[in-house]
Amino acid sequence: MGQPLKIGIVGTGAISGQYLTTFERLAAVQLTAVADLDADRAKAVAEAQGVRALGVDELLADPDVDLVLNLTIPAAHAEIALKAIANGKHVYGEKPLANTPAEALPVLEAARAAGVRVGCAPDTVLGTGIQTARKAVDDGLIGTPVAATATMLTPGHERWHPNPDFYYAPGGGPLLDMGPYYVTALVTLLGPVASVVGAAARTRDTRVIGSGPRAGERVPVTIDTHVTGVLRHESGALSTLVMSFDAVATRASNIEVHGHTGSLVVPDPNGFDGEVRVHPLGGEWTTLEPSAGYRDAGRGYGVADLAAAPAGEPFRASGDLAYHVLETMTALLDSAARGAEVTVESTCDRPAPVPLQDAPQAA
Ligand SMILES: NC(=O)c1ccc[n+]([C@@H]2O[C@H](COP(=O)([O-])OP(=O)(O)OC[C@H]3O[C@@H](n4cnc5c(N)ncnc54)[C@H](O)[C@@H]3O)[C@@H](O)[C@H]2O)c1
Repeated sequence: MGQPLKIGIVGTGAISGQYLTTFERLAAVQLTAVADLDADRAKAVAEAQGVRALGVDELLADPDVDLVLNLTIPAAHAEIALKAIANGKHVYGEKPLANTPAEALPVLEAARAAGVRVGCAPDTVLGTGIQTARKAVDDGLIGTPVAATATMLTPGHERWHPNPDFYYAPGGGPLLDMGPYYVTALVTLLGPVASVVGAAARTRDTRVIGSGPRAGERVPVTIDTHVTGVLRHESGALSTLVMSFDAVATRASNIEVHGHTGSLVVPDPNGFDGEVRVHPLGGEWTTLEPSAGYRDAGRGYGVADLAAAPAGEPFRASGDLAYHVLETMTALLDSAARGAEVTVESTCDRPAPVPLQDAPQAA
């Protein structure tokens, strides 16, 4: 087995804890340092993990960091990634890749020129839930896939997140925040998207923080909070998407995929596992045993999957996939604003399927 990839985390906020927990059981990666604009926050994590707390620029240039794990807010994703690449580091970022495709493209170009890798969340699609569903599609259990539905309806993250400002600013909203899980799953299941038609609405100008020291404070809303649309996949399949921070509850499946000879219920793409159910024509619903994907996965498996890919070989949670997903989402918002179908210029390969296995091993 090869050496673990040395990881430096920038941004030790709410989501960092999940990566830290996962890294403890992943031999392919080794945490060496952390940094945050809030030095005290980084120091607390560093002490708990037994690693160094550095200044942000210091970490980005640290010789003991091979890959910068960028867990900052969306508005800082591109800037941190570009600085890391300029220092010759691989980068893996939380989603979305950047606020806009125009911000994201220089990141991919700089990485290509520097010969380093760009990876991006979500890696939930590498777990047994989406991968078992994908295997069902690939194995022909539903015949030719013709359509999918993807539904995410919630009241909004300000109810639980103590600093929810970024969810209601450009780069946030239900589509850019939660859409990466759903659109990445749809691309994994049905392939890349050729064009989109969207419609969107903003139903309130402010939202009230529900927890933490700022509870009761109002946050301005400058983006659409209910986004719907249709994705026309290159294959011809049509996915109907509903992403909302304006609803209370739903009983709709997170994702369903329909083919000529069967229908498939796909579990929550914001999780790594969950029940996959299939209904063949003339049959009834049955549950499929997990048959593909990383078992017991968590946030960070995409980083380990990158680390496990030999130099020059593709890895699954790639910047190219994240760019296509980001462009698909922004095209949907653009279509909603313009009232017209919008072409998605980029494309990507469907990432390689994950055979049923435990954690990725170091390359
Ligand atoms: N919170 C969740 O449940 C969740 C789940 C999945 C993904 N994410 C994604 O993770 C990312 C971070 O979300 P979060 O909830 O952890 O946010 P957060 O606000 O809790 O944490 C972000 C951290 O990044 C730091 N930071 C911001 N800009 C920085 C910069 N320029 N340099 C260094 N540090 C900087 C902040 O000080 C903060 O500690 C977002 O992209 C979000 O979409 C969050």
